[in-house]
Amino acid sequence: MAGRNKITVVGAGNVGATAAHWIASKELADVVLVDIVEGVPQGKSLDLAQSAPIDGFDVKLVGANSYEETAGSDVVIITAGLPRKPGMSRDDLLKTNSDIVGSVTEEIAKHSPDAVIIIVSNPLDAMAQVAFVRSGFPKNRVIGMAGVLDSARMRCFLAEALDVSVENVTAFVLGGHGDTMVPLPRYSTCAGIPVTELLPEEKIDAIVDRTANGGAEIVGLLKTGSAFYAPSLGAVEMAESILKDKKKILPCAVYLEGEYGVNNLFVGVPCKLGKNGVEQIIEISLTNDERAALQKSAGAVQELIDVLGI
Ligand code: LAC
Repeated sequence: MAGRNKITVVGAGNVGATAAHWIASKELADVVLVDIVEGVPQGKSLDLAQSAPIDGFDVKLVGANSYEETAGSDVVIITAGLPRKPGMSRDDLLKTNSDIVGSVTEEIAKHSPDAVIIIVSNPLDAMAQVAFVRSGFPKNRVIGMAGVLDSARMRCFLAEALDVSVENVTAFVLGGHGDTMVPLPRYSTCAGIPVTELLPEEKIDAIVDRTANGGAEIVGLLKTGSAFYAPSLGAVEMAESILKDKKKILPCAVYLEGEYGVNNLFVGVPCKLGKNGVEQIIEISLTNDERAALQKSAGAVQELIDVLGI
């Protein structure tokens, strides 16, 4: 009998530790939590392991400061790097986090050459591209988590405005994980009905705007860091679709080679996630305005890639 799946989570801060929590409570996989700070990944793993008898999950949780324990992981979620402080954009983190994500990725590629890597570190799309380049992995095995989070935010706001269950609401967000992201109300639905049929235009515009600035709203409230419950669960939903070969269609940052008119760049688009990672990129037709907004968003990602020179 095959053993349990194994997920490594790199970074034992709020996003990483909460990802470990979701993975354990879903009994999705054994978890190795890695961080450079001595004691923190070990302490958080031990604390989580001691919650297992109460919740009733059987997974192994290990904390580590190096990568030996991570060997043979099926999925690796990289959350390492600095979070934003109030007033900072995700792009302000570019240089520092690309060094961190680059070196982490090399360790991961060495110890888990067959893993699927899910990037959560910001600026998201650029960090996914760093991981792609530094891992040498094929493009189907390096994926950025942003669209799941951004569309969850939009679903949350739409459900509230419609006064319906969040389960009734789907939402669609394309583009980079930044202020130029492209929420698409036309493709967002309540029980299959486009929300454009159910809400006035001003209300939808306000929701689109709040979604695009959803990360900054939380940074402004927390003051000492950025969001972590929804970002970590977004990554875990992607990991689950891969490990269980569910073939969910989820908005993810993936390496585009001509799809949507974007070339050699990570940008958020709808993808099918299964046991091989990204199994399909789904191209939908866009209006001229939507296409222009997506091009603008891709342009913002390209600027960061140009600064990094990769
Ligand atoms: C956010 C950060 C994590 O959107 O990018 O909350």
